[in-house]
Amino acid sequence: MNLQELRDLTGDRVDSYLTSSLSAYPAAESLHKAMLYSLFNGGKRVRPMLVYASAQLFGPITPLTDASAAAIEAIHAYSLIHDDLPAMDDDDLRRGKPTCHIQFDEATAILAGDALQTFAFEMLATPSLQSPELQLQLVQILANASGRHGMVTGQMIDLSSVDQTINTQTLELMHQHKTGALIKACVRMGAVSANCQDQDALMALDAYAHAIGLAFQVQDDILDITSDTQTLGKNQFSDEDSNKPTYPKLLGLDASKKLVIHLHEQASEKILPFGEKGKSLVELANYIIHRNH
Ligand code: IPE
Ligand code: IPE
Ligand code: MG
Ligand code: MG
Ligand code: MG
Repeated sequence: MNLQELRDLTGDRVDSYLTSSLSAYPAAESLHKAMLYSLFNGGKRVRPMLVYASAQLFGPITPLTDASAAAIEAIHAYSLIHDDLPAMDDDDLRRGKPTCHIQFDEATAILAGDALQTFAFEMLATPSLQSPELQLQLVQILANASGRHGMVTGQMIDLSSVDQTINTQTLELMHQHKTGALIKACVRMGAVSANCQDQDALMALDAYAHAIGLAFQVQDDILDITSDTQTLGKNQFSDEDSNKPTYPKLLGLDASKKLVIHLHEQASEKILPFGEKGKSLVELANYIIHRNH
């Protein structure tokens, strides 16, 4: 599959899985609207694409893969709603539109984030998937990646590092937690959802995702400086304005760009053993480091 085919497949499958799962219960109207707004307001769907690209290495796409992709995108949407709140990054623009707390209000945004988080686990745990052992593994991977072992710890390090000078070790730790952990979960969950038992393959995929997860956030830091608000769909210089520690700030722009290229090389190498089937993961890695928003 090339990148466009992967994007089409992902768009169709994850959007319809999210829509039908959401509509299965009539949540309070404003909560439902805020959840819909944050799930369908133009995200790039990179994480679901990683899930499908990884799963197709091991067999046909199944509803377990759809549930994994949808669950990760729900966690991602929740993380962005909370990330933009006044108490966190205090941003008013996301994907070219008002952030959730501006479009609705702060309380609704907090609750929509809460509900999206549990919605993710609701989808993974549903008995209709009929694969209890794999479902439990998927729940564990996602819980680890999104909570105190992963994204939330990364966000805490991020917020406690405002106005501080941190070293590259701490910065890498922060990025691997706040962004890398979820990216790693995508690739791992894709493989597990396709019932991959091959430990060598799983290790190669983890190494790919470790490198590309860090590259994703370094590129995000770079784009905060080099892109523009219109292209980004979020405010340029948001990191600068809130004095966040970033790779460009610590290493400089050129060294950060070189690091992204180096991480991309590392990631691509790990996919070589998968041959032609690995094409979508390789193209996704290219996209992640060359994207402009
Ligand atoms: C933004 O992620 C948040 C980070 C972890 C850097 P994306 O760039 O994937 O956001 P959307 O979903 O496409 O808007
Ligand atoms: C966000 O990092 C990582 C998350 C876990 C949401 P940023 O704060 O840099 O993400 P953007 O730039 O607002 O999308
Ligand atoms: Mg942030
Ligand atoms: Mg932010
Ligand atoms: Mg950012």
